[in-house]
Amino acid sequence: MPKESFIFKAVATTFVILTISVIAGIVTMIIFYKTQISTVKPTPRPTFPSTTTGPPPVMRLPRNLIPDSYTVFLQPDFYTRIIEVENVTSPNQTMLFTGNSTVNFHCVQRTSTIYLHSTELDVDGAVVKNRDTNKKMDVGEIKHKDESSFLEVPLEETLEAGRNYSLFLNFKGKMSKNLDGLYVSSYVEGSPAYEGDENAERFLATTNMEPTEARRVFPCFDEPEMKAVFHVTIIHRHGTTALANAKMKDSSIIDDDWTVTIFDPTQRMSTYLFAFTVSEFKSINSPHERVEIKTFARPEATTAGHTEYAASITGKILEFYENYFDINYSLKKLDQIAVPDLYPLAMENWGLVTYQEGSLLYEEGVSSLLHKEDIATVIAHELAHQWFGNLVTMKWWNDLWLNEGFATYISYFAVDDVEPSFKIIDTFVLTDLHTAFVEDALASSHPLSPPQEDVQSIYEINGMFDSITYCKGALVLRMLADIVDERVFNTGVKRYLRDFRYNNTDRNDFWEYIQKAVDEDGGHTKVAKVMDSWTNQIGYPVLTINTTNGEIYQKHFLYNDSSESSLWWYIPIRVMSNTSDSSLVWLDTSAPVKKDKFLSKSGEWILANVNCTGYYRVNYNPENWERLLTQLETNPRRIPLMNRGQLVDDAFNLARAELVNVTLALNATRFLSNETEYAPWESAVRNLEYFVLMFDRTEVYGPMQAYLCKQVTGLYDFFRNYTENSKVPDDHSLQHNQITAIQVACSSGLSDCVTMASEMFANWMKNSTTNNIHPNLRSVIYCQALAAGGQTEWEFAWNRFQSSSDTSEKEQLREALSCTKKIWLLNRYLEYTLNPDKIRLMDVDSTIIYIARNVAGQALAWNFIRAHWEYVSQEGGASLIEGVTSRFSTQFELEELEHFATKYDVEYATRAVNQAIEQTRVNIEWVRKNKEIVLEWFERESTSQCL
Ligand SMILES: *[C@@H]1O[C@H](CO)[C@@H](O)[C@H](O)[C@H]1NC(C)=O
Ligand SMILES: *[C@@H]1O[C@H](CO)[C@@H](O)[C@H](O)[C@H]1NC(C)=O
Ligand SMILES: *[C@@H]1O[C@H](CO)[C@@H](O)[C@H](O)[C@H]1NC(C)=O
Ligand SMILES: *[C@@H]1O[C@H](CO)[C@@H](O)[C@H](O)[C@H]1NC(C)=O
Ligand SMILES: *[C@@H]1O[C@H](CO)[C@@H](O)[C@H](O)[C@H]1NC(C)=O
Ligand SMILES: [Zn+2]
Repeated sequence: MPKESFIFKAVATTFVILTISVIAGIVTMIIFYKTQISTVKPTPRPTFPSTTTGPPPVMRLPRNLIPDSYTVFLQPDFYTRIIEVENVTSPNQTMLFTGNSTVNFHCVQRTSTIYLHSTELDVDGAVVKNRDTNKKMDVGEIKHKDESSFLEVPLEETLEAGRNYSLFLNFKGKMSKNLDGLYVSSYVEGSPAYEGDENAERFLATTNMEPTEARRVFPCFDEPEMKAVFHVTIIHRHGTTALANAKMKDSSIIDDDWTVTIFDPTQRMSTYLFAFTVSEFKSINSPHERVEIKTFARPEATTAGHTEYAASITGKILEFYENYFDINYSLKKLDQIAVPDLYPLAMENWGLVTYQEGSLLYEEGVSSLLHKEDIATVIAHELAHQWFGNLVTMKWWNDLWLNEGFATYISYFAVDDVEPSFKIIDTFVLTDLHTAFVEDALASSHPLSPPQEDVQSIYEINGMFDSITYCKGALVLRMLADIVDERVFNTGVKRYLRDFRYNNTDRNDFWEYIQKAVDEDGGHTKVAKVMDSWTNQIGYPVLTINTTNGEIYQKHFLYNDSSESSLWWYIPIRVMSNTSDSSLVWLDTSAPVKKDKFLSKSGEWILANVNCTGYYRVNYNPENWERLLTQLETNPRRIPLMNRGQLVDDAFNLARAELVNVTLALNATRFLSNETEYAPWESAVRNLEYFVLMFDRTEVYGPMQAYLCKQVTGLYDFFRNYTENSKVPDDHSLQHNQITAIQVACSSGLSDCVTMASEMFANWMKNSTTNNIHPNLRSVIYCQALAAGGQTEWEFAWNRFQSSSDTSEKEQLREALSCTKKIWLLNRYLEYTLNPDKIRLMDVDSTIIYIARNVAGQALAWNFIRAHWEYVSQEGGASLIEGVTSRFSTQFELEELEHFATKYDVEYATRAVNQAIEQTRVNIEWVRKNKEIVLEWFERESTSQCL
């Protein structure tokens, strides 16, 4: 799944001079630390009972019983609408659900206790049968183990190895109030007669099981390796449609209220992929020769055609994967459904993929053209999981990256295949690289693939859903494909999927299959040896090259270099110069070595990590940096586009880690005054964001704004004819850069830009039925107009936000509302996040983060989350902490944060709080060392006024 929404990471990678945050199309990231649920501290590794007695396992199920299939009946009692029908007064909504399940399992080691998972379910009526003899067995008193969420079913006799048994249980439970397990989502249908009109309110039931929530819906062996076949029956109210993983087999009315829908058995799959929905949603079809593909959404959204874009690409993406993997999609049907409330951006449930509305719905003429990139990416990611994750699953959550890294990596190609005009690969790679690089440069990072024993509790499992797993995972796979050749890599992948289908693997299985393909191809790479250095260790190296004598060496790259590290990696280096083409060289030692390829014989520049295929940074001797920057200023095209972005990023981050002077980084932005490509601008803007955060409350800010204004004037002018006529260029990367131009120009006070934004917004206010602002530009124009405006603009935007039933427009406005400079309006907006009728629970985090990124809202947001911690931390609070503390750079702020860590219940956000503390310390030190130099540099570079 993508978790905790790409959106937060998109926010984090956005330029915030003042208030903005657009950068569309940054979607490769997902959830971090979704930890709202019952959590337990790590406990010692269990010893599994080897005989009939012995201590119960601690966190992991024993392997003595292996499930084979389930028969599950589920009946959610809720109503989809609470309306008076004729004389019958409207019913009260109910969150109860009931059901029963029979699990058939095989015993491989004798035992007299059955352990399986169950959380907050009332269970009774246990019946255990020997399936070989059909004889019932006597059951003792069932117990719940809170810590492990085990259900312990003791038996009067023993289960014998080699025999087959079944366990039947009745259960009932409450639908979740958080967005996990089985829960109710709601929406408003049609135009409500008045605000809060209950007759317009509709409800649906939906599920989200990954990673450990299936146990809240029915008792099960809730571990990814415990795959089984599921025979599912849903009992639901008339007039609703039930969907599940498999195709509907039969549906019939059983009485006045209830319909029963029976589904085909699923494929053998993990419990976390189990899903069903009950709703009044409508669907449209996508063409595919074999698979029945349907895309569901609110009836209104479907009728208005908002699912059409998604439906138009889904079949093509599925076919792309069928060819790529050389294995057909395993089911007869594929449903996708846009759920109004969902915490991850989407979830890849086999055959029934759920999406946030924003990740699936597209409205012609209203949604930004760039929004298609997000939709295509999320769909491509989820459909990749139908193979990587669903068909072949990691054995345990420590290897989650095999699922998520692969889905992220392969989605680059799927999107590029169905939407070649987006030219998306460069953008994706750089975005993922930069996202992972930031987190992985902290000593608190974790290995891509930690030991199993480090990932035991629910808390630790949820912690795996982070940018390391998703982005580093994708880039490490990209690096492997580059080393062994993509063709060889693909051969290995195909066989791996074929041989392990319906089964589980760990990374060693994957290495083995790539190795076989390498060997057959006559290659020499030792896959496991090379790759283990990237997957089993935290962090990544910085390669240092001295082109005067050809010496290179590696070192663990950390922002805080006081952490001693002796880690080293097997580094593949693609290297070129202005006189030679790219070639591959290996660095396979921690000691410095001299290599000819890195020696500049006659003053030429040398560039390493061509096209950024390696997961590492590069530093050079000052002379080579000088030559590269001169090349950028004179003829940038000589240097590959991705590297143009990466040189800027490396320079800034090396400066942050104090490996080069901060002036080198700033010098690396000089060439931008003549640059119109997106990658270098995006890189510079994202990195300067750190300067903005550190300095926008200080005297550095004035000269810095003046410099940015000067640098962006050319770019603004490049797009001026488009922008002022509310038009956009054809090329997607230019479309991205047009938005950057407006963001940077308006934020740094270019008066033409501010006037343009305010006028466009004023025109819309004058005639609110026709919005002439191009959909691509709405987000940035709304934000800039609200930043420049006052109460009138804000109220207008708020009213539009509340009355709009359009997902894109709502999202754009929700973000723009955080852009005002008026403290009292920001305060009011913060208060609204406490009211789920105003701001949905799933939007609370991101709304507060938007406000915190506005310099005027920083302090307010920090006070606010502390005052309302219990409410705002319902989703764990990790991303909130990260977002709200990103400007922290004073001793006072550090003390406040440390106080917060001890005085508040931050259990689910512990890691985020520790990271924030570490980051704040780094920031304090960085500002202390660099402020004067940076101030001088900006003052020198921005002599003329830019207005
Ligand atoms: C509603 O009440 C009327 C008159 O009392 C009765 O004829 C009708 O059958 C009732 N309808 C329902 C659905 O009970
Ligand atoms: C709804 O709940 C209220 C209070 O609990 C109760 O008085 C009323 O009878 C219920 N209505 C229905 C239709 O069940
Ligand atoms: C399980 O529940 C279904 C639906 O309520 C019911 O028809 C079935 O008889 C139940 N199974 C058992 C063994 O009680
Ligand atoms: C899964 O893979 C293991 C190891 O290769 C094998 O022993 C086992 O039989 C496989 N199980 C299934 C259901 O294919
Ligand atoms: C690079 O090597 C030369 C020659 O050995 C040496 O003089 C210089 O100091 C080195 N530069 C760096 C940055 O280490
Ligand atoms: Zn995923």
